[in-house]
Amino acid sequence: MIALGDSDVARFAVTRTPLRGMSRRFVPGEGVGDLVDAIRAANAQGMSATGNYLGESVKTEEAARQAADTYVDVMDRITRGGLAANVSVKFSQLGQAISESFLTDNLAPILERSRRDGTFVRFDMESSAYTQRTLDAFEKLWAEGWRRNIGVVLQAYLHRTAGDVARMNQLGARVRLCKGAYDEPASIAYKERDEVGANFIRLMRELLDGGTYPGIATHDERMIEATLEHATRNDVRPERFEFQMLFGVRRDLQQQLIRDGWNVRVYVPFGEQWYPYLMRRLAERPANLLFLAGSVVRESPLGVLLGSHDRSTRKP
Ligand code: FDA
Repeated sequence: MIALGDSDVARFAVTRTPLRGMSRRFVPGEGVGDLVDAIRAANAQGMSATGNYLGESVKTEEAARQAADTYVDVMDRITRGGLAANVSVKFSQLGQAISESFLTDNLAPILERSRRDGTFVRFDMESSAYTQRTLDAFEKLWAEGWRRNIGVVLQAYLHRTAGDVARMNQLGARVRLCKGAYDEPASIAYKERDEVGANFIRLMRELLDGGTYPGIATHDERMIEATLEHATRNDVRPERFEFQMLFGVRRDLQQQLIRDGWNVRVYVPFGEQWYPYLMRRLAERPANLLFLAGSVVRESPLGVLLGSHDRSTRKP
């Protein structure tokens, strides 16, 4: 599924067919207005949010500038609407592939907004080809004084991450910890689910004990239980960290944590470039393919004939 995320043929098949409807489960829409509506709904349910404009590996200056403009627009809407939300950006979307100096210039308006309005900016972590460059760029901005405004993401599947957590804790930087969503080689990454989980728990403890308002980003109940257990046993109060989950994934768990008094932030992606994101979500949970197959049948002429297009029969 991850490889299909890069395939033009598969992209064509998915974006030009009823499969497109499937993306609505994970992406509320293509426009900034769709994002704002989803953030408002999350806030109404007691959750904060982070908005992500979908897009990666941008190769032209025009596209990278357009992405930066969109983020500025999103940040303005967050401020004007008084929303409990921040933004998550990808360096490869903002022009890292063009040059580091272009990236720095393109980030400037986003960081300025963040200084003006206090909206936090998280740098998502991409494949291992970008890890060191992303952390270098982050540390450069940190040294330039953007500290309170910015945060980074670290991936528990990478062998190197224990060192990166120690470094970020030493700086006092805000870290989002996730398992990692890319297909990395065994030479640099844990491949077994249990190994990734064990490393996640080790790193989560380091972050809760010595980090700065970490984001524990997972839907894995074992990871969440380990976090709650560590927090409770060591008196790490709810205001010292937050759980983070993806829009449309384990809404039951999101609400349960809120009811129990923990902070939850929902990651809300939006935009036209939903296809590679959808492929990563399908890769994480093959059962989603059944949901996808169901939506194809329902929306096909045969499904319509059989009356199975009735949306009330859809699973949530
Ligand atoms: P795991 O994949 O083991 O899933 C545990 C359970 O969660 C499943 O059994 C299922 O019930 C549910 N679940 C998980 N994924 C699902 C899905 N797609 N559909 C339905 N149910 C699902 N990665 C990265 O490399 N860089 C980044 O910057 C980020 N950022 C990020 C932000 C946030 C807020 C989250 C939650 C995740 C990320 N990720 C990420 C993705 C992350 O690395 C990882 O791929 C996914 O979170 C899936 O891992 P889990 O920890 O949820 O466990």
